[in-house]
Amino acid sequence: MGYVVLEGVEKTFDSVKACSQIDLSIRKGEFFTFLGPSGCGKTTLLRLIAGLVTPQSGAVFIGGTDVTHLPPEKRKVGMVFQNYSLFPYLTVRQNIEYGLNILKKSASEKQQITDHYMEMVGLSGFGGRSVAELSGGEQQRVALARSLAVEPEVLLLDEPLSNLDARLRDKMRSEIKSLQKRLGITTIFVTHDQTEALTLSDRIAVFNEGSVVQVGTPQEIYNDPENVFVASFVGDTNLFEVAVCTGVACLEDGTKFKLPASAGSGNILSVRPQNIKLSKSVVHEPNTFEGMLIERQLNGVWIDSVVQVDENSLQVAELNSVDSQTLLEPGDTVWVTFPESGFRLLEG
Ligand SMILES: Nc1ncnc2c1ncn2[C@@H]1O[C@H](COP(=O)(O)OP(=O)(O)O)[C@@H](O)[C@H]1O
Ligand SMILES: [Mg+2]
Repeated sequence: MGYVVLEGVEKTFDSVKACSQIDLSIRKGEFFTFLGPSGCGKTTLLRLIAGLVTPQSGAVFIGGTDVTHLPPEKRKVGMVFQNYSLFPYLTVRQNIEYGLNILKKSASEKQQITDHYMEMVGLSGFGGRSVAELSGGEQQRVALARSLAVEPEVLLLDEPLSNLDARLRDKMRSEIKSLQKRLGITTIFVTHDQTEALTLSDRIAVFNEGSVVQVGTPQEIYNDPENVFVASFVGDTNLFEVAVCTGVACLEDGTKFKLPASAGSGNILSVRPQNIKLSKSVVHEPNTFEGMLIERQLNGVWIDSVVQVDENSLQVAELNSVDSQTLLEPGDTVWVTFPESGFRLLEG
């Protein structure tokens, strides 16, 4: 049984369908992520769970209670907004105390709870500072402490890392994860960033245009995407329109690929760039084609290439390890091998 359950939730603004028939079941203690491009309805759904938006139809349950028509303060949820929504003229302590005032906590309780959460997010001693003087990362911690201080049963985080620089983002990412594990709090995390989703989540729901297009563990989402949208939004992939008969996929130009039984079904063939092999010399293996190297770029751990094989332009990624540094340059003839196990068929 899910702890946060959405049943047929629909929300339309004027003519825009922000959320369309959403059914989701999030388990107690789970780190669950809404992943999708900008404008696909993630924030709207989070606000629906928080009680800041009411659906036109469908229901929201938290802990077995139908909360669809309950106001936010009766839902036991804490939310960190994308822009943090702190009160700029208040101190760190006053910001964190905000929800405790609504809950009518005594002065000593407020002090104790606020101290506890300031320490938890690494802001001990910051109580008297104005939030306007804080860095982005510190403001993010205040927002997190403020939402945790009311001891919510569900924590809602709307792109909390998107305003931070890359290094701080990595640090806060692991801090959020370890805090969530320590508290065991059911958490719904919104992001458009596949790496955040894959590294943080127990499970991910991928959204496209107001609908959930796949729910699964990071491994399921990345390794077994159910459709073209998920395959190309989460990670990079090469896609080919194919006709499939008896274990062989045929491209329009006549190219044939031998498929494994595990490839699934559908008329779009997907191959991740790191599952394609490049060689400077002739290779006598099935699914091997001669092509020309068009682009080659070193990105540190990876070397990314673009290879032209007949009419098809392929993305290939090789690990930049000591034994994989064959010198290849644009214009070189290369042999491209597609190992069978790298093929997945998808519904178009
Ligand atoms: N209050 C609102 N009024 C009108 N349209 C809105 C409102 N909130 C969201 N939308 C529209 O709903 C769609 C989904 O928005 P949103 O939930 O913010 O997406 P995301 O968080 O995935 O970027 C967008 O087209 C957006 O413009
Ligand atoms: Mg949003």
